[in-house]
Amino acid sequence: MLCVSRVFNLESFLMNPAALSIQGLVKIHPGPVCALRGIDLEIPEGMFGLLGPNGAGKSTFMNIVAAIVEPTAGRVLLDGVDIVADPRHMRSRLGYLPQDFGFYPDLSGRAMLEFMLQMKGINGPRGRRALADDLLGRVNLSAAAGRKVGGYSGGMRQRLGLAQAIAGDPRVLIVDEPTAGLDPEERQRFHRLLAEMSTGRVVLLSTHIVDDVATLCPRLAVIRSGQVVADTTPSAARRAVDGVIHEGFVADATMPEFASRHRVLSATLDEGRNNRVRVFVAPGRVPPSGFSPVVGTLEDAYLVLMRCPPAEVPASLTRAAETVGGAA
Ligand SMILES: Nc1ncnc2c1ncn2[C@@H]1O[C@H](COP(=O)(O)OP(=O)(O)O)[C@@H](O)[C@H]1O
Ligand SMILES: [Mg+2]
Repeated sequence: MLCVSRVFNLESFLMNPAALSIQGLVKIHPGPVCALRGIDLEIPEGMFGLLGPNGAGKSTFMNIVAAIVEPTAGRVLLDGVDIVADPRHMRSRLGYLPQDFGFYPDLSGRAMLEFMLQMKGINGPRGRRALADDLLGRVNLSAAAGRKVGGYSGGMRQRLGLAQAIAGDPRVLIVDEPTAGLDPEERQRFHRLLAEMSTGRVVLLSTHIVDDVATLCPRLAVIRSGQVVADTTPSAARRAVDGVIHEGFVADATMPEFASRHRVLSATLDEGRNNRVRVFVAPGRVPPSGFSPVVGTLEDAYLVLMRCPPAEVPASLTRAAETVGGAA
């Protein structure tokens, strides 16, 4: 009883119905490198996107939530239970597809999966082989079950990784940059599988690809240099940049000078000479001449958070009213 009360925080759970509660998370790696600078997030069931560039701290965050790495400070509560104090509570409820997933190229997909199930100590009612075959079916790999993993495409490998992650019906599914390097068709296929698997559980998806989040996640946090710079929803983020994104053309030769005077979000070469440029124009500022307002996208919102000084970022972009901890 004493042990249970040590790790289960009733007061915190009652005040906070989020499945996963992250409080004041700090991680200082040897170096020292401060990878997380005090992260607070309330994560409900369903898909939750953690969006940020390389080096932002996403994998560090995922590894701590997965109870693989200990934080320097802060707490992680799963359904009210502190998993830093009781890592087994998370580990026994977790499916994890890490960013760097090791494969044995000479094993068949089925043998590899059976091996991973054995490592995790998971057996099915009809045996491990039957469970492996069920899981391969769920990730559309039945036809390739007998082929060597070494010959699998990137998307097939990720689906095999997902098969081991969902074994045992975990409460929390963590997938760290699962779509990096996949072609568009494989990404879409992986998206569909993830969406199917998000019912009744927490799915944490980290990515640097805005489209992954736009397609899949009703909730997202944007992380930059170890800090949450937005805790929002895709539609709220789009609304927050409504009216502040303008588009126009700039000759390639004048681009550096233009970029020094305006908040350029993106510039793509158009027919090799002109740049089609999107800029952020803070409320009250005058847009560049010849530029017109365009409908803002989640990509625009993300780039505003990455490229503009915090003082210029619209407050409604950093925290949406409809998030668990957001203002009413
Ligand atoms: N084991 C480690 N030792 C030292 N520094 C680390 C370690 N892991 C990550 N880092 C550093 O922490 C920061 C965040 O890294 P990471 O969590 O991998 O970010 P992301 O997954 O967003 O790319 C980076 O500066 C990275 O170099
Ligand atoms: Mg990473």
